[in-house]
Amino acid sequence: MSNLSRVLERQQKEREEIRRRRAEEDRDADEEEEQMLAVAVCMLNQSRQHRRRRAPNVNRRRDSRGIVCGVPSSGRSSPRERKRKGATSMKAVVITTPGGPEVLQLHEVEDPELKDNEVLIKVEATALNRADILQRKGMYPPPPGSSPYLGLECSGTIEAVGKQVSRWQVGDKVCALLSGGGYAEKVAVPAGQVLLAPPGVSLQDAASFPEVSCTVWSTVFMMSRLSAGETFLVHGGSSGIGTFAIQIAKYWGAKVFVTAGSKEKLAFCKNLGADVCINYKTEDFVARLKEETGGKGVDVILDIIGAEYFRRNLKSLSFDGRLFVIGTMGGAVTEIDLRVVLSKRLTIQAAGLRYRSPENKAAIVREVENNVWPAIVAGKVKPVVYKYFPLSEAAEAHLLMESSKHIGKILLLP
Ligand SMILES: NC(=O)c1ccc[n+]([C@@H]2O[C@H](COP(=O)([O-])OP(=O)(O)OC[C@H]3O[C@@H](n4cnc5c(N)ncnc54)[C@H](OP(=O)(O)O)[C@@H]3O)[C@@H](O)[C@H]2O)c1
Repeated sequence: MSNLSRVLERQQKEREEIRRRRAEEDRDADEEEEQMLAVAVCMLNQSRQHRRRRAPNVNRRRDSRGIVCGVPSSGRSSPRERKRKGATSMKAVVITTPGGPEVLQLHEVEDPELKDNEVLIKVEATALNRADILQRKGMYPPPPGSSPYLGLECSGTIEAVGKQVSRWQVGDKVCALLSGGGYAEKVAVPAGQVLLAPPGVSLQDAASFPEVSCTVWSTVFMMSRLSAGETFLVHGGSSGIGTFAIQIAKYWGAKVFVTAGSKEKLAFCKNLGADVCINYKTEDFVARLKEETGGKGVDVILDIIGAEYFRRNLKSLSFDGRLFVIGTMGGAVTEIDLRVVLSKRLTIQAAGLRYRSPENKAAIVREVENNVWPAIVAGKVKPVVYKYFPLSEAAEAHLLMESSKHIGKILLLP
């Protein structure tokens, strides 16, 4: 071989090596870009939530099949990896852009990926929560690592179990507390957040329990320690939270006071067992509570209104009273006169459920299973479902919740 042909052959080999390396680098860059995009979206989401501005559209990316992909988040594979593993698709409600109910659309999306400590649930029903409206508007992003889709609770049948899961089996009828993803045909959830669907309740209606029972049990009972013989006020007695709180507080022997905004809603609360029903639109609830308790005030208040009711709530509490704030429908910023807290030895607490760790949620779920499930199984706490919508009508369901015409829960059926 001449010197020239040896040089040409070497150059050819070098060119091939360069091409091979470039292809490899391109592949790595693609994956890195996807991961960086996910982190950037997550950070953007958090800072936007902080500034109470619109969160980005996390659901708009499509793969080559036109399937909408949730943004990959920590602990889950990238869409590229998942495609390689042969992921299949399902229907889910997607927030096409932050905004009104009309932005909710049913799309074909990738199936959720199952982690070793999770179960995959074929969803029978999911329920709406006020928080879904905030998420739809871009003001309440899912916690990192959670499904980008709406839906904080569901019921259904276990379709697959992760390698580390021992309690649950394929075919079990369950309901679950979710960090997101309920508005879909399938959802993956840590096994610790799953409960057996309570016997005596339809599998559909079981979807109405996880969020309200975990919220009310972890606040009113685990932290404010409401006990038999005490007095308890729940604001928004006709809400999903309120209709459950009335029943479980009565079951545990408390005297229950509620506020609501219409005669019809107050009559419903009375039927559920509430002892004293106050129309907050026509009556001063502070004065009425004083009158009903002989000037003493109530022992525990569960509040969804926040700033607007804060001072009035403090006035309505008895000595050693406990206020638990779980919502800010009436604003989040207020002033406090510490002398009232000091002189009456009050306890003020506030908490959210969604951003708790999976371990923390699992601990609450087990408490609920031990203390609330027996009341449901005994028929003492019943599901209160106002209306069922097909999943494709999620927008109509949101409109209903925003109108506040409903009493209890609104369910979506895939
Ligand atoms: N922190 C947590 O972990 C957690 C968990 C779940 C829910 N939440 C919060 O709990 C609240 C209720 O949630 P939900 O899903 O049960 O909502 P929901 O079913 O939509 O009920 C909200 C109800 O509040 C009532 N309301 C409005 N203004 C009121 C006022 N000034 N006084 C008394 N009642 C009033 C409305 O009925 P009227 O017609 O009577 O006005 C409305 O139906 C929301 O703020 C939600 O964010 C918090």
